[in-house]
Amino acid sequence: MKKARVFSVSNQKGGVGKTTTTINLATALAAVHKKVLVIDLDPQGNATVSVGAKRRLGTKNSYTVLVGGDNLEDCICKTEIPYLYVLPASKELLGVDIELATEDKPQFFLKKALERADDFDYIFIDCPPAVGLLTLNALTASDCVIIPVQCEYLALEGVADLMKTIGKIQKTFNPGLTVHGVVLTMFDGRSNLSKSIVSDVKKYFGDQVYDTLIPRNVRIPEAPSHGLPVMIYDYKSTGAQSYVRLAAEVLKREKEFLINGKEYAFR
Ligand SMILES: Nc1ncnc2c1ncn2[C@@H]1O[C@H](COP(=O)(O)OP(=O)(O)OP(=O)(O)O)[C@@H](O)[C@H]1O
Ligand SMILES: [Mg+2]
Repeated sequence: MKKARVFSVSNQKGGVGKTTTTINLATALAAVHKKVLVIDLDPQGNATVSVGAKRRLGTKNSYTVLVGGDNLEDCICKTEIPYLYVLPASKELLGVDIELATEDKPQFFLKKALERADDFDYIFIDCPPAVGLLTLNALTASDCVIIPVQCEYLALEGVADLMKTIGKIQKTFNPGLTVHGVVLTMFDGRSNLSKSIVSDVKKYFGDQVYDTLIPRNVRIPEAPSHGLPVMIYDYKSTGAQSYVRLAAEVLKREKEFLINGKEYAFR
């Protein structure tokens, strides 16, 4: 039985490109016939809408899987994109911090739900911009983390806290968790600020930073209103093409991981 590789896409800072990175990496891998599940763990539900699904209130969504004990396979939706599936979000996720707080081991609920997810090659969890029980559940259930960092002022703000959280999760709930890579998003080649952020982030994270820079591209914010990842909405756009390159890099690291056991471990 194959076991899916589970990625959290996480950064507690808002608007850095977590959802865009989640859905476009997932789509790029689906395009090469990897069976991929996107789990939308953000009450905003942006990943759900961006792959053309609907936010679901009441039944069969990531909230009911997490808190209500629904079976994962009953709640997953097919998307229009072959090989790509989504577990939609619900606004009710906003209550998870309070509702799970009194439970025994509340960080393990998602991990338990994913135990039966043996049908996928990759699972990408789109995390909310906060370090609450949703993100802790995602990190506990994951093999690795992808950290999007926006090429803007205060890019590294909050990243030190995220790294501390990852370190704590490794020491407690999930010793196998690794940082797969750091992706620089919304890069503007004409801006000196963007260039200096790239060099700051490379100083901080070293070779954990993927070579691919995701440029600022107007087609990316247009795509979600069509319910399509930019990869499908405008495949030739610079935004889409950069995500194709990023997916190739992710697969390359995956191969190294499998062949050499080389891990991009947290330092
Ligand atoms: N490379 C890009 N070029 C232009 N716009 C982008 C790019 N990447 C993301 N955006 C836009 O920036 C906004 C924030 O991106 P996104 O929703 O992916 O971030 P996020 O980290 O998931 O946000 P949140 O923390 O609210 O969940 C969106 O409107 C998105 O369309
Ligand atoms: Mg998001």
